[in-house]
Amino acid sequence: MPRIRISNIELYVEIRGAGPPLLLVHGFPLDHSMWAGQLDTLSSDFQIIAPDLRGFGRSDATGGTVFMEQFADDLAELLQVMGIDRPIAFCGLSMGGYIAWQFWRRHGERLQSLILCDTRAVADPKDVARGRGIAATQVEVDGPANLSATMIPKLFADRTRQQHPELVEQIKRVMISSAPEGVAAALRGMAARPDMAGELPQINVPTLVICGQQDVISPSQEMRDIAGSMPNAVFVEIANAGHMAPLEQPGAVNSAIREFLQT
Ligand code: MLT
Repeated sequence: MPRIRISNIELYVEIRGAGPPLLLVHGFPLDHSMWAGQLDTLSSDFQIIAPDLRGFGRSDATGGTVFMEQFADDLAELLQVMGIDRPIAFCGLSMGGYIAWQFWRRHGERLQSLILCDTRAVADPKDVARGRGIAATQVEVDGPANLSATMIPKLFADRTRQQHPELVEQIKRVMISSAPEGVAAALRGMAARPDMAGELPQINVPTLVICGQQDVISPSQEMRDIAGSMPNAVFVEIANAGHMAPLEQPGAVNSAIREFLQT
């Protein structure tokens, strides 16, 4: 699979299938492999483009702060370098959703539709933003293991933890092998992300909002309200799933995506 050069870095990208382009943008601090339940199945109908974002997986990292706007610009440039001119479906989970908002703001002409999984529209409250800054410095000094230990208990539904411990292990492995520089830069970027709650009524791109019923990071009611504030959005709740709904319940998530994109 290729690493593709954009500006001053190279991004690793999984590209599968043919058809309307579907960009899958992972959450924090993960990589394209969180879409394991989508890559093959959805590639029978779509051209799947699943990059590792700047600083994650097998992509190059840059330090300091990587703003959500920068990630969005990276993705627009990636599409341009790949020669993908037709509007895309942009599917982002959590931090991938934060990036989706900025992609809409800066590259809206490239969007055919949005799929927002387990994400939020509001900015970080001040204390949370401050905590992320502290965590960023800790990750730079000690690596991502402590961050992973804090995050893992919040990511999965009870049933996933009991019946699919291998998924929990998979995500843990990715987290602890992430580049500290990239993780820290994204933490600072998320802390600085703009509040999009007031802009939701202007986002009239067809949108599917997906949320795991037991998501404790981006709760289902909050995501239902996001969909309710957007003029052209539908909401789907996924049973027996937490924050990692596409990985935990790929069948239900893929059906929702197919139904949304093909009708
Ligand atoms: C994610 O899954 O991308 C993170 O939970 C986002 C966040 O920390 O706000």
